[in-house]
Amino acid sequence: MCGIVGYIGPRNVKDVVIGGLAKLEYRGYDSAGIATLDNDKVSVVKSVGRLSNLEEKLERTPVGGHLGIGHTRWATHGRPSDENAHPHQDCSGRFAIIHNGIIENYLSLREELLAKGHQFKSETDTEVVAHLIEELYNGDLFATMVAVGKRIKGAYALVVMTKDEPDTIIAMRKASPLIIGLGDGENFIASDIPAVLEYTRRVYVLADGEMAVIHRNSVECFTLAGEAVSKDVLEVTWDAVAAERGGYDHFMLKEIHEQPKAIRDTLTGRIAPDYSRVVFGEELSWTPEFVRSVDRIHIVACGTSWHAGLVGKAVIEQLARIPVDVEIASEYRYRNPIQSENTLIVVISQSGETADTLAALRDAKARGRKVLAITNVVGSSAAREADDVLITRAGPEIAVASTKAYTTQLVVLYLLAVYFAQERGLLDDTLIRELLTGMAALPQAADQVLDTAPQLEQFAKDWSKVEDTFFIGRGVDYYLSLEGALKLKEISYIHAEAYAAGELKHGTLALITEGVPVIALVTQTDLYEKTLSNIKEVKARDAFVLGVTFVGDEALAKSVDQVIYLPKTMPLLSPIVTVIPLQLLAYYAAVARGNDVDKPRNLAKSVTVE
Ligand code: M6R
Repeated sequence: MCGIVGYIGPRNVKDVVIGGLAKLEYRGYDSAGIATLDNDKVSVVKSVGRLSNLEEKLERTPVGGHLGIGHTRWATHGRPSDENAHPHQDCSGRFAIIHNGIIENYLSLREELLAKGHQFKSETDTEVVAHLIEELYNGDLFATMVAVGKRIKGAYALVVMTKDEPDTIIAMRKASPLIIGLGDGENFIASDIPAVLEYTRRVYVLADGEMAVIHRNSVECFTLAGEAVSKDVLEVTWDAVAAERGGYDHFMLKEIHEQPKAIRDTLTGRIAPDYSRVVFGEELSWTPEFVRSVDRIHIVACGTSWHAGLVGKAVIEQLARIPVDVEIASEYRYRNPIQSENTLIVVISQSGETADTLAALRDAKARGRKVLAITNVVGSSAAREADDVLITRAGPEIAVASTKAYTTQLVVLYLLAVYFAQERGLLDDTLIRELLTGMAALPQAADQVLDTAPQLEQFAKDWSKVEDTFFIGRGVDYYLSLEGALKLKEISYIHAEAYAAGELKHGTLALITEGVPVIALVTQTDLYEKTLSNIKEVKARDAFVLGVTFVGDEALAKSVDQVIYLPKTMPLLSPIVTVIPLQLLAYYAAVARGNDVDKPRNLAKSVTVE
């Protein structure tokens, strides 16, 4: 996720672009840059770090003009650096582009363009587009961009300018957001509405597969194939703060709703087009010998990331048959863990800055182990210090309660499990295809499960006064119960406990009395009957049971008080859809209790102390 701003008009272009980027810094902040067209010359200034670094640089290197584009970056391909910051340019310096998304076929395009003599300055996927434009440009930027659209694959919001057409900016959108702010004798482009609200409340929201040709006095919209489309103007009525949250009341709710996209982005380019295998390409430095030699995996993490690790254990053990221990980072390093030569350490951390997790990472490295980091932040300490890194492409997570980071961590762990299994020859082709097509369908399933929100909102309202609640499940549903309980405690302050459903009768059943809410997760087909018996145990003590199961399971409704139905997925992949109602439940319970959802008491987003 990155932030994009463009402007054409009479104002000070630097001020409009930098002001807009400041409103979008929540979308990414590892580097920033600006390109302007001034006196027939494209000037580009970029800087690694926060936007303030770019602003300081611009004081030393001022830019002017009537047209400009700017970008704040959230790195996916290539570390945060001046070179990798956007805008990117072609060899001649005539074009400048900014991009949010992932160009999936950038490696093959790069090879093609290198063979034609183009010279690359960055490690990004984006730069190929600048050179492709240079290669295809025929004096008509619009026609060139239609041709470019036919060559690039993946997700993009792309904005391009050239000194050869000083009254034109072109913006294209496929699976990444873009809006056009409509002014009088001026027009604006941005990833999100807050960036333009200071100047206009009239916007076009570009739909997926659309592009816009923006001049100072006009905006025309087209499909990516170049056919004209007419658009309705959206009159924005939100205030600026609500707009930053995309119109949602809280960042947490926005981030819950971003999960289908985050899951899709995390899968992008990591599954072969024919679903025959997982491809990590240059992301991992592992040799085939190394992959075969791993005899144990220690997953080390904290909080929600630790819960993701538990699901990872279930999936890796089932598919790749490698024993996995999942360790709480603050405990692991103090107990002199037993690691063999061939133990792989996997640290999971959204922020990549959690002190306990970093300490475990450093300890493992000091013992000579290979460390893989799964993190959401490219330039984080975990990403820099680990031997290998797999990035979850969730985009910045602002709310303290982790949501989209968790689901994307699961996606990476699934990919890793299939990768180990395929490289070690443990899965037949049919099962790999079944798993990978199932994974490719997860964004859609995540989207469908968001429809349960009204039911959960009502349930949370009815139930927000309770002080104790229980989450139960078996297998991965138990791990999901732990995450559901943590989310509820963290933001609603309702006491919640998670239990392996079969374990209740060994003590905790004593706490079940009339009306105590029990959330029972029942997505594991092979454990269905057993979990049902455990539900009967709590029902017999008059608990109020909310069951969570797949659509089509009519039987559960007879044993519980209310049911949440999930879209059908393979049981092994179900955690991704099961967790979303649990996040929504916690969210609506916190709202009903009037809590500060995004900043719960006593907690910080990134825990950088031990
Ligand atoms: O950035 P990390 O993933 O390392 O953070 C770990 C935990 O602090 C974090 O997951 C925490 O449990 C969340 N706030 C839970 O929602």
